[in-house]
Order: sequence, then C-alpha cells, then structure tokens
Amino acid sequence: MDGNGRWAKERGQDRVYGHYEGVLSVREIVDACGDLGIGYLTLYAFSTENWNRPKTEVDALMELLVSTIKREIIDLDKNDVRVHLIGDLDSLPPACRDEMDEARRVTADNKGLNLIIALSYSARREIVEAAKKLATAAAQGQLNPADINERLFEDSLETAGFPDPELMIRTSGEHRISNFLLYQLAYAELYFTPVHWPDFRKKHLYEALLNYQGRERRFGKISEQIQSNSGTHA
Ligand code: IPE
Ligand code: MG
Repeated sequence: MDGNGRWAKERGQDRVYGHYEGVLSVREIVDACGDLGIGYLTLYAFSTENWNRPKTEVDALMELLVSTIKREIIDLDKNDVRVHLIGDLDSLPPACRDEMDEARRVTADNKGLNLIIALSYSARREIVEAAKKLATAAAQGQLNPADINERLFEDSLETAGFPDPELMIRTSGEHRISNFLLYQLAYAELYFTPVHWPDFRKKHLYEALLNYQGRERRFGKISEQIQSNSGTHA
C-alpha cells in the first residue's frame, strides 16, 4: 500500500491525512476480497525501515493502526475475516500490540478471508530468523542439517501454513519489492499501478485481477505444457 504521503502532498495536506484516507481503501479492498472469495490477503502496513520516518509520522501511524483495528474488529468478525499478523511484533508500542492480539483472538475461529497484516515486517529479518531457528535445532541435535529442505524452511517462516501469494499489487508507481515476502514471492505475478493507495478502490482491484487472469503462469515450463494441463479449467 504505497503513495499515501504523495497523495496528501498533492492536495496540499499533511502526509498523515493520506494515511487516514488510505484506511478507507483498506476497508473497501478487504470487503471486496471477502466478497470475491479470495482466501488470503496480505497488507504491507509498516516495514521495519518505516521506523526511520519522523517520529510524528510513526506515532500517528501507530495510533491510526490502533484506532482502526479497534473500530473495525466487529465488522471484520461479522464478515468472517480472520486476522493474522507477521513482523517483529515485539517492536510495536504495547497498545498497538495488545489491540492486534485482541483482533487475532476475536477472529481466531473465522473461516472466511485470511487477512494477514505485515507490521514492522522485514522479509530479510524473517528469513534470517528462520535460519537461526533451524540452526539452533541442528545445534541441539534435534535436526539433521541434511534434512533441511524447502518445506521445512517454509514452515520456519512467519507465513508457515499460508500459501504463497499468487499476485502482488504495488500502488503508486514504484517498481520495487521493498523487503516484502522475498521468499514467498518467488513465483508471484507482479502488478504495478500508478494509482496512489488512497485512490485504490474496488474498481482498481478488479482491474488488477483481470490483468492477472490474462497471464500465463508457466512456473518454468513451456506454454504447450501448461495448455495441455489446463483443458478442464474454465
Ligand atoms: C504507504 O504510503 C503507507 C505506509 C508506508 C505506512 P507512504 O507513506 O509510503 O506514501 P509515499 O510513498 O510517501 O507517497
Ligand atoms: Mg512510500
């Protein structure tokens, strides 16, 4: 979700105003994904690098996270959304961490959209932590290093149990991954749009999904192999 600050600046407003407006897009996109029957939506809300922003903006973002989740939790629950979190949650202000934990707890039994919020998230950190976990298990004799494979590694990531993303959307015209799900995005389709996040609404999501549906995902194979396997697909 990129471009909140620029969106606000273009309107002669403070960056924080863009974050407030961005919440309305989050609401609409979460609803749309639920309606479409999408299984998993990951929102990159705050990266570990975002801590380096001016303190006033970081504080405003943390407060916005708390007030938003507090306000939305009832509707999320009603819509059968299950909230998950990834990232360095220990680094969050206690009020924010507590509110997020509460959202997780309240929605734990829901079976609809899995909404994964990446907060204070860094993919490199996640990968290093996974390596550390496996190395520790090996050093303690609980794991034979020869048994480490992709499956085991994936189970050590914060996204253990979630499928790999099929589509990554980045708004606001930047063509970067910015330390987001580096391992999991290996075969994701990437979609970039110049639309700033506060302007990104249902219509733009549909455009992204239609674009995705028109792509041929070959996973390293050749086109003919994919077509002969997909005969029964609508
Ligand atoms: C994305 O918008 C929201 C967060 C990172 C929290 P930005 O704040 O990055 O907006 P720009 O990129 O400065 O326009
Ligand atoms: Mg940005």
